[in-house]
Amino acid sequence: MENNLITGGAGFIGSYLTGRLLKMGQRVVCVDNFELGRPENIEKYQRNPDFKLCECDVSDEKAFNKIVEKYNVERIYHLAANSDIQKSARFPEIDFKDTCTTTYSVLEAMRRNKIHKLFFASTSAVYGNKVGINLSENIGELSPISYYGASKLSSEAFISAYAYMNDFEALIFRFPNVIGPGLTHGVIFDFIQKLKKNPEELEILGDGTQCKPYLYVDDLVDAIIKFSMKKRIGVETYNIGVDTATTVKEIADMVCEKLGLTKVKYKYTGGNVGWKGDVPVFQYDLSKIYETGWKPQHNSNESVKATLESLKL
Ligand SMILES: NC(=O)c1ccc[n+]([C@@H]2O[C@H](COP(=O)([O-])OP(=O)(O)OC[C@H]3O[C@@H](n4cnc5c(N)ncnc54)[C@H](O)[C@@H]3O)[C@@H](O)[C@H]2O)c1
Repeated sequence: MENNLITGGAGFIGSYLTGRLLKMGQRVVCVDNFELGRPENIEKYQRNPDFKLCECDVSDEKAFNKIVEKYNVERIYHLAANSDIQKSARFPEIDFKDTCTTTYSVLEAMRRNKIHKLFFASTSAVYGNKVGINLSENIGELSPISYYGASKLSSEAFISAYAYMNDFEALIFRFPNVIGPGLTHGVIFDFIQKLKKNPEELEILGDGTQCKPYLYVDDLVDAIIKFSMKKRIGVETYNIGVDTATTVKEIADMVCEKLGLTKVKYKYTGGNVGWKGDVPVFQYDLSKIYETGWKPQHNSNESVKATLESLKL
């Protein structure tokens, strides 16, 4: 039994990870500032004696360090970040504080308290917009086009240096779009909100041809647990995802079908990107993670369908 700390533990993925670790008999300290996380995501764990909740802004280095000291933390899963990428496209300081500075706080707390095990939630956005290239982890030029991608890439760079200087064991997963029951943001969530307001017309950002892989949250959390418990030296980075992809128009069709709406008029905002900084199409090279024996249970369309089936609409 280990003392695990999850930053962003009240968020969509963090709360799943919390549940899974508690089920395995691990202790979990959940740290969240509830900027985007929701109390109801973690309510069911509140009576578990192995679960502790700390409301704290992780970018507040001193406050975060106190929590790490108090709970004698042995492993950190760093998931806290800004996930409202459209908002931070207008206010870059959000990514700097919630995605970049939180990483610095985590690494400093690890250094001071001699904690050696770290998992970091990174993203495909670190690659930037590389059309027609199968993105592998060792691709040379990483050139993010969003503040979010830049903050994750700079976090990866700090993790590399802290790992070397302090003998950390760090695991980095570069997630694609992650979906599943209880999701709180992203294209499926947005379409449902819009159609609830107006079931006759759906605004689709871009031209609907944006095509990305969607990974089911259970598949992701299985992999996080399986890989993070292994001993390693230094930093290991993996792309994680699925081979297939789904277009935004296909998602719109599936959401309308789920809602029983047959005559929705699609109104495209135009252009091939949803917003400035959005990467409309990308393809991962997944050979590194597949060589370990890991495979997701759902392909991209199955992930979308399973997510829609799970939602009470
Ligand atoms: N969901 C995806 O599609 C996706 C894709 C790529 C990467 N990721 C990464 O996975 C992680 C989890 O994402 P998610 O989808 O669960 O998003 P989420 O917004 O549901 O979870 C992030 C959590 O971090 C918390 N947080 C943000 N800033 C904080 C701060 N300064 N101090 C304390 N808590 C803070 C939020 O309140 C929220 O609970 C994030 O790091 C995200 O960048 C997610």
